[in-house]
Amino acid sequence: MANNVSNTETNEDSIPFSEKSKQSNTMANLVDITSETPAEVEEILKPFRLSNENLKEISKRLLKAMEEGLRNKTVGSDHPSIRPSVKMLSSHLKERPNGTENGGFLALDMGGTKLRAYYVEVMNGKIKLEPKSKESPIPQELKNESGTQLFDYIVDHLNEFLKGHNLKGHPKLPLGFSFSFPCDHKSLYKYFLTKWTKGFKCSGVERKDVAKLLREAIGRKGGLNIHPIVMVNDVVATMMSCEDENCQIGMIIGTGTNACYMEEMKNVGTEDGEEGQLCINTEWGGFGDDGSLKDFLTEFDKNLDNESDNPGEHIVEKMISGKYLGEIVWRVLLELKEKKLLFEGSVSDNLRKKDTFETRFISEIEDEKNGLENAKKILSDLGLKVNSTDPSLVKMVCDTISSRSARLCAAALVTIANRIRTNRGLPDLKITVGMDGTVYKKHPNFSEKLKEALRTLSPECDINIKVVDDASGKGAALVAAVAQRLCGQQG
Ligand code: GLC
Repeated sequence: MANNVSNTETNEDSIPFSEKSKQSNTMANLVDITSETPAEVEEILKPFRLSNENLKEISKRLLKAMEEGLRNKTVGSDHPSIRPSVKMLSSHLKERPNGTENGGFLALDMGGTKLRAYYVEVMNGKIKLEPKSKESPIPQELKNESGTQLFDYIVDHLNEFLKGHNLKGHPKLPLGFSFSFPCDHKSLYKYFLTKWTKGFKCSGVERKDVAKLLREAIGRKGGLNIHPIVMVNDVVATMMSCEDENCQIGMIIGTGTNACYMEEMKNVGTEDGEEGQLCINTEWGGFGDDGSLKDFLTEFDKNLDNESDNPGEHIVEKMISGKYLGEIVWRVLLELKEKKLLFEGSVSDNLRKKDTFETRFISEIEDEKNGLENAKKILSDLGLKVNSTDPSLVKMVCDTISSRSARLCAAALVTIANRIRTNRGLPDLKITVGMDGTVYKKHPNFSEKLKEALRTLSPECDINIKVVDDASGKGAALVAAVAQRLCGQQG
């Protein structure tokens, strides 16, 4: 046993961690070392640990950025120096379903990795049954093709869905399109993509009206009786789909991250009118693009950003969301390997490649019961030399990175909840958040980490998080239903 050394306390303390790892290599079982982070490892992980004070400071800066976004009239501008980092886009939605919406609606949900088509029946403002749906992955290659190819792919998917559910001969159907990218929303029917995010690069789409591009693709393919196309961001759809009257915030923590909330019209400098409320799509993933998070970025964050498809953009999203969490862990693992603290200082060909350490591995490794075993398997499958303490160390890295993500999300939620509370001049606030996204839903303890931080950061706000499945599809259909009611009222 390697423990002939660890029995003598003084010797144990004087052995460098890298040596301990070599010794434990001979042990049959996995050893959990998470209760005492080795000093050399802690030095690398420390910059990721955000204190409550740090989070309060981040929240203050986010509020300032949100206020700038609300005042700013240059939304849609391409010039970084005049574009606010947190764009605070109008969704053109001033109300939730009021119970009078009825009918059948189509919906499309285009997120970062999947495309889904839905048929949703709405009765008295509520979704009648679990919607019919069809999902397909968005192939990686398609993200680099032309906009025409992308929109043709979307319409082909919709066509197959309609055929599969015998909806092809249906009289004209309205469609709600949840499009999860930052767009300048001119109206519910006109939606100009400001900038691709989440690794998309399809040509001929930026600064174009996405509803029009979809209409043109429907025209090219023929045979589809769809009208009108109502556009919505996924986070707004998520808020709309949450069947809770107290739901005034929508949030997504998935491939990307974002939040929306009901703001008082009188505070929205970008829109005319003073009365009532308006749902604002914060696009908070851009927080930090003006340098306001500089002092909280680690070297790993900076390198990830520099080598990303969109350097300098969506800085906080790169610290939080599923598209990037795996890569941050990967970068830290390489550094630990470099310092000979992991994998006996060697690396496999697999681990040399960016994108091999998938975000889903973090959830598997942080599983309470089988985490260490899962880690061992994942690392061995990547061709790495794994000793008995490596899985535990990798688990510690995953926990540190996912905790930072959860705590940053808590800081953002608290900022928004407090904004609503002060807007209404209330000493305290009870509010519901409609939530969706794979990171929040699939990670074994992300939600707990987030809720714990919420309680510490804002005792004045009682924030109830409600997960909504298929939120974007259901919400997009409900927005189309509300739009239909409003159209009817107008005329
Ligand atoms: C990205 C997009 C945003 C979307 C979010 C979640 O941040 O810019 O529009 O809501 O991802 O999908």
